[in-house]
Amino acid sequence: MSCQHCCGANLQFDIDNANNDLKRYLKKGPKKMTRMLVDALKKEDIKNLSLLDIGGGIGPIPLELISKGLQKITDVDASQGYISVATAELKKRKLSHLANYHLGDFVALSNQIETHDIVTLDKVICCYPDVHELLKTSLSKANQYYGLVYPQAHILSRIVVGFLNFKLKLKKNPFRTFIHDPKLVHDTITSAGFQKIYSGKTLLSWQIHLYKKEAS
Ligand SMILES: C[S@@+](CC[C@H](N)C(=O)[O-])C[C@H]1O[C@@H](n2cnc3c(N)ncnc32)[C@H](O)[C@@H]1O
Repeated sequence: MSCQHCCGANLQFDIDNANNDLKRYLKKGPKKMTRMLVDALKKEDIKNLSLLDIGGGIGPIPLELISKGLQKITDVDASQGYISVATAELKKRKLSHLANYHLGDFVALSNQIETHDIVTLDKVICCYPDVHELLKTSLSKANQYYGLVYPQAHILSRIVVGFLNFKLKLKKNPFRTFIHDPKLVHDTITSAGFQKIYSGKTLLSWQIHLYKKEAS
């Protein structure tokens, strides 16, 4: 992936946004769509499992699941600001020993990332133009669970995304958001040997899915 995506993500998800996200999280907890994915994962036995949170932002998923006994957390994020804030928050909670962080485009870095029991992408595939490549590389890292949150593909979200992209263009930020085809997303995941165990939606914007690897 060229600088277009990662440089854009770094501008879009800068340190001010990261600090605001953390402030909001500390006051109100995770956003609704993240809470839905976290609750679905909490229903599974995740004690001693490892988590790879791709595009983890300030880290609401690991912060919520850590009390369930995760043994290792890896975050790969394209934003320096988000990684700094996530790292500082874990340090404050004396949990740094459980976590490691990689800065950059997950697809480009994927050779350096080992497999994990759980892989999550919360509002991340909508940041990425080549959804097939991002799904394929991230699925190859998931041993048991694969969870994702991405936009519903209806006319309203297309209008919102069109408007967002127009604003980004005016600001000369090369970052773009995308509405990906839910059937393509689902088929790619099931073709990799996963079956859906949870599905939810927020009122207008997001769809939330958790998949589990079928026993071979
Ligand atoms: C909308 S934010 C979501 C953050 C977090 N998952 C949450 O829900 O609070 C998208 C995040 O994905 C990261 N990101 C986007 N594309 C990425 C890529 N190709 N590799 C790694 N991180 C990426 C961005 O830097 C940003 O932190």
